[in-house]
Amino acid sequence: MVNEKHRKVVYQIYPKSFKDTTGDGVGDLRGIIAKLPYLADLGVDMVWLNPFYPSPQRDNGYDVADYTAIDPRFGTMADFEEMVEKARGYGIGFMLDMVLNHCSTEHEWFQKALAGDPFYQDFFILRDEPTDWVSKFGGNAWSPFGDTGKYYLHLFDKTQADLNWRNPHVREALFDVVNFWKEKGVEGFRFDVINLIGKDEVLEDCPVNDGKPAYTDRPINHDYLRMLNEASFGQAPHLMTVGEMSSTTVENCLLYSRPERQELDMAFNFHHLKVDYEDGQKWTIMPFDFAELKRLFHTWGEEMSEGDGWNALFWNNHDQPRALNRFVDIENFREEGATMLAASIHLSRGTPYIYMGEEIGMVDPDYDTMADYVDVESLNNYQILLDQSKAPEDAFAIIKAKSRDNARTPMQWDSSENAGFTTATPWLKPGKSYQEINVAKDQNGVIYTFYKDLIKLRKDMALISEGSYKASHQDHPQVYAFERHYEGQALLVLNNFYGTETPVALGEFATGRVLFSNYETTELGQTVTLQPYQTLAILKG
Ligand code: GLC
Repeated sequence: MVNEKHRKVVYQIYPKSFKDTTGDGVGDLRGIIAKLPYLADLGVDMVWLNPFYPSPQRDNGYDVADYTAIDPRFGTMADFEEMVEKARGYGIGFMLDMVLNHCSTEHEWFQKALAGDPFYQDFFILRDEPTDWVSKFGGNAWSPFGDTGKYYLHLFDKTQADLNWRNPHVREALFDVVNFWKEKGVEGFRFDVINLIGKDEVLEDCPVNDGKPAYTDRPINHDYLRMLNEASFGQAPHLMTVGEMSSTTVENCLLYSRPERQELDMAFNFHHLKVDYEDGQKWTIMPFDFAELKRLFHTWGEEMSEGDGWNALFWNNHDQPRALNRFVDIENFREEGATMLAASIHLSRGTPYIYMGEEIGMVDPDYDTMADYVDVESLNNYQILLDQSKAPEDAFAIIKAKSRDNARTPMQWDSSENAGFTTATPWLKPGKSYQEINVAKDQNGVIYTFYKDLIKLRKDMALISEGSYKASHQDHPQVYAFERHYEGQALLVLNNFYGTETPVALGEFATGRVLFSNYETTELGQTVTLQPYQTLAILKG
């Protein structure tokens, strides 16, 4: 049976950088309303919005100070309601970002706790002795809790205090948050680092991998997700849910996403975006390891397919440098590479996510100085690199390649000043490429049109939305290939990840027909020669 959710494609908007209508240099909800026709033209079904709740913005809104309000810099609740209503008219729903692992230390819960209220102190994870866990943004993961002599846990910035899900009052308060937005008519939720919410009762030192095994994918995490499901979105089965899973495993993602488990619809994992990390460390520079990328895609593709789990598929998001800069020779093959990367996930099994600007082939901003970067993680790690005696130019090169700001630059609407994003000084400098790459120029261009066709194909063909996943051509040195199977139909998808031609044997697909490609004509035979960055999908004859 075709699952309607599987036909959907999600578009991610980073509200701060999408479109400013008030002239303050920051994007806003009315900017999203203004661009709804654009999103409808592209054909996406759902828009995931990064947090727009009141927040001191220490981590760009992932430090929530009030879960059920709109930060005035983004607009008002009336704007939000109008946005939801108007989007519905275009067949577009919103997926909201729920940051339930931690809240801002400016949240009233933390403030009351600090003021000595024991009820709210039990909302947080307080201990007499810190463990050796390392914060994901650098430094120890514990900070002194006022002058109480205790420490509170913060797996991220010290202004993002982890919430104590063991406390039923905390769970209830967070379930209420989800229900508040559900009542507002949203169509889905993206749960931030949701595989970290379940902490063990006794927290212990863990010298392995910065302490991650001690707090990631704990068994109790699954119990909490089932409770969340039952208390909120589970009551409205049309809602679409995705969990962001930090350093997770296939085994756990099967549990998180198998329908009968009643946890979530699908899971994001990040292993494929660590194939250019030297020794698993982010703040390094290394060309991507193609064999490892293939191994990961095949393992996740096959195991999730066989076990009835569901992957969220993506190359880009607000935390990642642009995939084009990482996986493609953009000097020579930006369009070919962008379309190949798109097909390699949109024709695969799972739900594809498009990050704003990806559909026109946006690239990293190419900043010249550290002064252009604002992200807390980048600034912390620049300092850490210097402390490790890296030369400033080497540290800068690493930040330039790895910074999350690479994704967060203003959406490039046109070639006017500030890329048509704002009339004021933008909160983050636009990328250098905006005069060559922008919507005014590229809507209906090669990349945009290709995305549009891919989105439509998923709606039209159950083979694509439902088919199983099988690895293919596993030993090919430059092609990532997989097969999809559904009710007697079969599709072979070949993706050349390099800027040189390469032959591929077609086996039983030799007599098939070309369904989709980013090159005009391709002659099929016993072998086919793929062009640089060619993607080629062949339906079995
Ligand atoms: C997730 C978000 C990231 C944020 C972090 C802490 O990884 O995607 O942007 O900094 O969680 O909330």
